[in-house]
Amino acid sequence: MSTIQVLDKTFEPYLKEAEIQEKITALATQLNQDYAGKRPLFLSVLNGSFLFTADLFKQITIEAEVSFIKLASYKGTSSTGNVITAIGLDINVKDRHIIILEDIIDTGKTLHHYLPQLESMQPASIKIAVLLNKKEALQFPVQVDYRCFDIPNKFVVGYGLDYDGLGRNSKDIYQLKA
Ligand code: IMP
Ligand code: MG
Repeated sequence: MSTIQVLDKTFEPYLKEAEIQEKITALATQLNQDYAGKRPLFLSVLNGSFLFTADLFKQITIEAEVSFIKLASYKGTSSTGNVITAIGLDINVKDRHIIILEDIIDTGKTLHHYLPQLESMQPASIKIAVLLNKKEALQFPVQVDYRCFDIPNKFVVGYGLDYDGLGRNSKDIYQLKA
């Protein structure tokens, strides 16, 4: 595999399709065990999580539902910033077991600000499953319950993840070239 160009930046191969799929299969197996009989609701956070969600959900063999939300995080002048719900929940989550699906946890800001809203709807439980966990970048406390990969604090694209809207459409994940 060679480097790719997205807008003004060059990215080099980082995680290959086969390793990504292997981790997703392992995660699905774990979730099938942990949530058997609980009819969980997978709550996928758009846009970045759409491929991860599709590949994971295909391997969920227990009774389960999936739904989508879209959160937009605005970097204002304040250090906390603002997280707005661009597309909200359209189903009742009271007493449901929720598994949030995120492509990547970076600072943790997006989920840290969204979780209280979700908690106020009184679900039975909330767990977070992520494809990529940039644990050194975490600034806002968020508990990641399931992860496919812990990655260093470097910008990545591919497999749903974008740089300025582009670069989502690849089966592999690429890392910004130093
Ligand atoms: P957080 O709120 O800082 O945890 O960031 C969450 C969101 O920022 C993710 O859902 C991504 O959309 C985006 N993001 C963070 N790091 C990266 C990256 O390395 N590549 C692409 N998008 C990223
Ligand atoms: Mg993004």
